[in-house]
Amino acid sequence: MTNVTPRSDIVLDVQDAVKHYALRRRGLRAPRRSVHAVDGVSIRLHSGQTLGIVGESGCGKSTFGRLITGLETPTSGTIRVGAHGVPIAAAHGTGTVQAVFQDPASALDPRMTVRESIAEALGKVAGRERERRVDEALAAVGLTPEFGVRYPHELSGGQQQRVCIARAIVDRPDLILLDEAVSSLDASLQAQILHLLERLQQDTGTAYVFISHDLRAVRQVSHSVAVMYLGQVVEQAPAEAFDRGLLHPYAVALRSTEPRILDEGTEHVERIVLTGEPPSAVSPPAGCRFAPRCPIAEDHCRSVAPDLVEATSGHLVRCHKPGELTLSGVARADAEV
Ligand SMILES: Nc1ncnc2c1ncn2[C@@H]1O[C@H](COP(=O)(O)OP(=O)(O)OP(=O)(O)O)[C@@H](O)[C@H]1O
Ligand code: SF4
Ligand SMILES: [Mg+2]
Repeated sequence: MTNVTPRSDIVLDVQDAVKHYALRRRGLRAPRRSVHAVDGVSIRLHSGQTLGIVGESGCGKSTFGRLITGLETPTSGTIRVGAHGVPIAAAHGTGTVQAVFQDPASALDPRMTVRESIAEALGKVAGRERERRVDEALAAVGLTPEFGVRYPHELSGGQQQRVCIARAIVDRPDLILLDEAVSSLDASLQAQILHLLERLQQDTGTAYVFISHDLRAVRQVSHSVAVMYLGQVVEQAPAEAFDRGLLHPYAVALRSTEPRILDEGTEHVERIVLTGEPPSAVSPPAGCRFAPRCPIAEDHCRSVAPDLVEATSGHLVRCHKPGELTLSGVARADAEV
């Protein structure tokens, strides 16, 4: 995504957010157990910027998304949103934060026309201004006014997703969560919608949190990217760092699976296949959570959990051996390459 001039205004400030889901006990004497879906995430995002969040299924991306949109309450930690830094519990429902999810059909009320769906997000704006703002939002997503009278089932999937985006932008929020928002669309529509989001951001300065398991899409739209693993951020870096210079073994392995990398002429890049299942989020390992699958793990890693530290300016990593596994070489032979 084109770099817009970063402003100093923070529109998302997350400090040590934790979300544990208590599981039903298997019996009266059974221990209480909980899923550590998000486990101490701190993130700041400025207006006009996009933060990408990537990581394998179940690592906590959507839970994090639900926390920052107020759909879930954190177990602990603080979340402030918008230019005024309002706690999310107070901002929820005010239009400061909007969200677009993967499945547009289930997000739209089948009994409402496109116009009604978009207008519903406009809160107190009334009369002609209300109509004008709906027209503006429709135009912004490339839909002509004729679409306004249609019902969701009269639209294609891509058009439905455009309506969801129109609804998300119509009240000019400070922040939009996009959780797998383009994942179900075909490649050309994905590209169109990503381009549209980029243009909207340049015009309005809205910040995005862009969640996807598709690292390529994330890199394309984001100014900075956070890689999550079992509820924690293991690496956070400017998007450019994803071309070279990733420091966490999991982030490097994820990057190595991107198919395009082999076409780019990068020398000696091999796909790093991680062996072993990800450990359970119910009882994460005591030391480094990635140790059971890490090709360069040592005893120290299994007993001492690494902290997230700044390796270079703006580049954070949670690893005792940052940079030792690279795209062009695996340090030890027990990783399958
Ligand atoms: N309501 C819930 N109750 C119990 N556990 C939950 C609940 N919601 C999510 N989880 C668990 O929390 C963890 C994180 O789930 P989450 O949906 O945030 O993952 P994700 O990274 O979005 O995955 P995906 O890429 O598959 O969408 C998972 O282990 C999941 O099973
Ligand atoms: S701390 Fe050790 S096990 Fe964890 S990612 Fe780094 S090298 Fe691998
Ligand atoms: Mg998800």
